Amino acid sequence: MKLTLSVIKADIGSIGGHIGPSQKLLTAVKTFVAERGKDCLLDYYVGSTGDDIAILMTHRQGSDSPVIHGLAWDAFVTGTRVAKQQGLYGAGQDLLKEAFSGNVHGMGPAAVELEIEERPNEPFLLFAADKTDPGAFNFPLYLAFADAMNTPGLILSPKMSKGFRFVIMDVNHTAGDRVIELVAPEQMYDIAALLRDPERYVIESIWSRATGEQAARVATSRLHNIAGRYTGKDDPVMLVRTQMNFPATGEVLAPFAAAHYVAGGMRGSHNMPLMPVALGATTSYFDGPPLVSCAAFCVHDGRLTEPLDAFSHPFWDEVRHQVTRKALDMRRQGFFGAAMLPMGELEYTGITEKLGELDKGFKIRQVAARTDTAA
Ligand code: F6R
Ligand code: MG
Ligand code: MG
Repeated sequence: MKLTLSVIKADIGSIGGHIGPSQKLLTAVKTFVAERGKDCLLDYYVGSTGDDIAILMTHRQGSDSPVIHGLAWDAFVTGTRVAKQQGLYGAGQDLLKEAFSGNVHGMGPAAVELEIEERPNEPFLLFAADKTDPGAFNFPLYLAFADAMNTPGLILSPKMSKGFRFVIMDVNHTAGDRVIELVAPEQMYDIAALLRDPERYVIESIWSRATGEQAARVATSRLHNIAGRYTGKDDPVMLVRTQMNFPATGEVLAPFAAAHYVAGGMRGSHNMPLMPVALGATTSYFDGPPLVSCAAFCVHDGRLTEPLDAFSHPFWDEVRHQVTRKALDMRRQGFFGAAMLPMGELEYTGITEKLGELDKGFKIRQVAARTDTAA
């Protein structure tokens, strides 16, 4: 029977603004999952990145199970009570609906699930990003799964040489899941043409063309589409299986050294470089910089190892310095041009109203009729 890896994450309150959850809140969520999960989970892990809490669960109930999603939802509801008692900022922020109705899709929390035939050894990575949106993973996934300059496995491994299938979602379409399937390497330029717009086209999943196995899955939910208004950046999670027929762990991590600019940071409205951080890291400068953590696991018969912290290695200190420099460089230009996100991605409606008012003040200048006539 297939093993399901489910990650469900939410921001249900944090200390000092959008910095990080309290220990009491984390403990409340962990205790709830341990207790309720006794009968239905094989194993679990609860961790935080910035102000978000992610629950990783292993089980045999398949994707979208009401039992598993209900467990995570109730854990977040229980946590929200603690967050409210402590007066945490944004308590219950990502729980957009009152009553649970089968699964968490469209209710606020983000979810990613992989149903897998467990390999004899099954390494995988859980990425969690804060102060950014799901398109932040377009760049590293493209490099890891389609570019031999980053991933020598694409030319060295016969199975990987067959390439990968990308499922890409148009996240602006709210009436249903609007997706396209494209294969690398043949359609790399088509994939690139879509992925260059990470606020609209987002990699949802990646599959091995050699074996049909699923390699990666990204939480694609856009909170502002669900709520109809801004309620917080989406802060996506992602699961990536590594090694053997998939890119090596190091090939998946390598693109994060580029410190690429993503949508996020202050008031969710600025372009800032993405900083790879240690598990449990909090946010700081300019409500950012946007951050990404990576917990590496192996799973066997559904039992998880302890997480290893993939970005705690000294190598990443230099990358973090580069992110700091890039962030400071971008901040020098304040709200001008590339520093701030385009209108459609701004998280506050105040500016739209202001522009509406100002628009009424515009007049078309009357040009005096010209009297001189050309000969
Ligand atoms: C994401 C995050 C930010 C805030 C944004 C708005 O985790 O925390 O995107 O949601 O800065 O914050 P306030 O509550 O100050 O409007
Ligand atoms: Mg937040
Ligand atoms: Mg967050």
